[in-house]
Amino acid sequence: MRVRKVVFPVGGLGTRFFPITRAIPKEMLGIIDKPLIHYAFEEAMAAGIEEFILVTRHGKDSIEDYFDYMFSHSDYFNIKVGSICYVRQNEPKGLGHAVLCAKNLINNEPFAVMSADDFILHPESCIGEMIKRYNGSNMVATMSVNRNEVNKYGILDIEKEEDDLVYAKSVVEKPSVDEAPSTQAIVGRYVLSGEIFEVLQNLAPGVGGEIQLTDALLEMIPTCGLVGFKFKGQRFDCGSKKGLLDAILHVASNDDNLKQVIDRFYER
Ligand code: UTP
Repeated sequence: MRVRKVVFPVGGLGTRFFPITRAIPKEMLGIIDKPLIHYAFEEAMAAGIEEFILVTRHGKDSIEDYFDYMFSHSDYFNIKVGSICYVRQNEPKGLGHAVLCAKNLINNEPFAVMSADDFILHPESCIGEMIKRYNGSNMVATMSVNRNEVNKYGILDIEKEEDDLVYAKSVVEKPSVDEAPSTQAIVGRYVLSGEIFEVLQNLAPGVGGEIQLTDALLEMIPTCGLVGFKFKGQRFDCGSKKGLLDAILHVASNDDNLKQVIDRFYER
């Protein structure tokens, strides 16, 4: 089935970037001259997404202003189709809750979810590759992480692997190093069945007192399945300072002009 809509959850507090995120949304932090949300938007556009739904909140108005600017310069930004709409998440009750806030805008069809703070440089659009492979089972982007980092992610319990797909028999949010069933971690790209809303609205808070998307994915495994897509390309965790700096240096080092600054830095 065609996937036409994407949800960008931008309702998080961004505490790891305090104090700047007290006034500037994390998704508006820049990789040189473009904010993180712009890169996510381009990845979704390249995947043929037509409707962009932002789950936003108090203090995030600059994201809406930015998209006003982009859509009013649609030729310049090569925006051919699409509409954008916003729904509010009144309180930051977790990623699962943010996705649930988009329920009335989805109409029980499969949809994509993208966290802009996961910046993914992929030969193709990462979410586009996932949409091509989507066959009705909930799908998540996964990558192998160091064992000492499993407690930062949702981790798959793997049933079998075929090419770039990993079939999960279970999933656990932020397990301890000892309890992690694998090192295959979920990063911020999802293609989900519209049936997930039914599950999310009945879900109790999980790890950290938040409504966890991972818990809904777990509950749906018997009926819907859960598949990980081992994406190619590079992912930067721009929700962390180190990840954002890494992404900025990576982009700059691929630009002849900006690379000179990096070279000069090492000559000092
Ligand atoms: P994070 O776990 O990175 O949380 O959210 P955060 O609040 O943004 O950042 P820290 O950990 O406090 O530094 C992952 C994604 O889920 C969204 C975030 O905006 C981000 O895209 N999110 C999280 C929401 O939209 N609402 C929430 O209540 C929580």
